[in-house]
Amino acid sequence: MPSITIDGKVIEFKPGQTIIQAAADQGIDIPHFCWHPGLSVAGNCRVCLVEVEKMPKLAIACATQAADGMVVNTSSEKALNARNAVMEFILINHPLDCPICDEAGECKLQDYAYSHSLGESRFTEEKVHKEKRVALGPNVMFDGERCISCSRCIRFCDEIAGEKELTFVKRGDRVTITTFPGKQLDNAYAMCVTDICPVGALTSRDFRFQSRVWDMSETPTICTGCSRGCNTLMWVRSNQVMRLTPRDNEQVNQHWMCDHGRLNTFQFVNEDDRANGPQVRREGTFADVGWAEAYSAIATELQTYNTDEIAFIGSPFATCEDNYMLARFAKNVVKTRHIDFPRHIFPGSGDDFLIREDKSPNALGAELSGIKPAERGMNFKAILEAVKQRKIKALYVMEEDLVGTDPELEQVLAKLDLLIVHTYTMNRTAKLANIVLPAATYAEKNGTWINFEGRIQRIRPAVTTKEMERSLQGLSVSRLDKFGTQFDRWGNVRKIDARASWKIIAGLLGSFGTKVKYDTAEDVLLEMAKNLPEFKGLNYDVIGDKGFQLSIKPQKV
Ligand code: SF4
Ligand code: FES
Repeated sequence: MPSITIDGKVIEFKPGQTIIQAAADQGIDIPHFCWHPGLSVAGNCRVCLVEVEKMPKLAIACATQAADGMVVNTSSEKALNARNAVMEFILINHPLDCPICDEAGECKLQDYAYSHSLGESRFTEEKVHKEKRVALGPNVMFDGERCISCSRCIRFCDEIAGEKELTFVKRGDRVTITTFPGKQLDNAYAMCVTDICPVGALTSRDFRFQSRVWDMSETPTICTGCSRGCNTLMWVRSNQVMRLTPRDNEQVNQHWMCDHGRLNTFQFVNEDDRANGPQVRREGTFADVGWAEAYSAIATELQTYNTDEIAFIGSPFATCEDNYMLARFAKNVVKTRHIDFPRHIFPGSGDDFLIREDKSPNALGAELSGIKPAERGMNFKAILEAVKQRKIKALYVMEEDLVGTDPELEQVLAKLDLLIVHTYTMNRTAKLANIVLPAATYAEKNGTWINFEGRIQRIRPAVTTKEMERSLQGLSVSRLDKFGTQFDRWGNVRKIDARASWKIIAGLLGSFGTKVKYDTAEDVLLEMAKNLPEFKGLNYDVIGDKGFQLSIKPQKV
């Protein structure tokens, strides 16, 4: 492989790479505003100027191809002087309003003003004033004075979203961004411009002024919006989820996520009507009970039915670990053949970039984890039909709001003698239940999902539950690391009494006389790795931050 030397360090590069790409691959950060690894090269901000031996003038690292034997100096006196001059020039008309700017704390201009500029301006004239608070579309706000004209947002719309919505107008220091006449910035991925805008010119209308960046924890997780499984960061303050942003994974979503996933997949975690502690219906009203009492009520109740009168519903929103435990409980302990899960497929709702028609994150994982009818067992549709005909009298539903999805099922479920649910909120299905088991959401547990392509990926807890607090007590640092938590440092916050579904079932197995010992979700995965061929060799280290591709065929939706 050819090599170049950057600041005295010899690094290899792939033929065709620019200096900035070669450096980035080796973890060397050359300052840049307009360059972005997912976009074409514009070369207009000039902050990436570097000195290259044998070149008469400074070169921009983002547009200069690396060549074998090239020697690059990013911090020679000449390069530093040029970078300082570029920073001084960019800051001439900048409002310097960091104290009220949403981008503060994650702003490249702010960072570089500290690390790559003189900290003083010689400019004493009146700054150019431009439009502020311009709603470019339903989700994005523009502040013209903060814009440094890097063109990232324009290139994103043209090259990634495939929608020509933004353009520059005017010239020189009056230049600004606007939408084309009659257009809005409202493509399905529009909010990605707020991630890639290197300053606070483009901000999310949903998140503006909700929190300072440094007051939140950020936890790597996966979007639940569809079967793509875009890698995301979940931002939490005071145990409340504040926002989701995309996390780089070249194999899944590169650097992007859709607005639907970003805006609509976390609010239920914060809801006031979260199921909080187990409840058992007595004489028509719910009574709060402890976990042990709920487990023993379930054991007593289920044992009064023939196994063919009992059915189980798993979920593609639950993890592989949750679904595995449910299948194990249904098939090996209760010994029913009737177990399946509903699909959430909306034909025509996908696109040819990221968005899939299957609006659940783990349909493939649920199936591979054992949620499918045993021989001569009923599938989801047949189970509901059997409930209607009173052939199924007891139904155990994990993490699915059946009535919320299809209101007509209210009449059907009313025919049951026994309805047990694992639920996040007191939704319409939970309100019909006899026994309610509060389930931890994907924001509150560890586990794995498998996307439509067969890539297994980890979710991690970002929000604390009472159960999580109990579980963490007494664990060694290395075990704590398996939880992957970066829990919020604000102490006095609401914590829900909910458990991961795998843990609920592990507790329940005890009431059926089956002894199990799982400390963590990974212990369940390790058992799956022994018992299920598709999971062979897996543990959380193998899966890592970017997931692991299983050797199975991708799903069609
Ligand atoms: Fe979420 Fe799918 Fe959108 Fe990705 S494409 S952000 S997984 S909804
Ligand atoms: Fe190279 Fe902007 S990053 S010119």
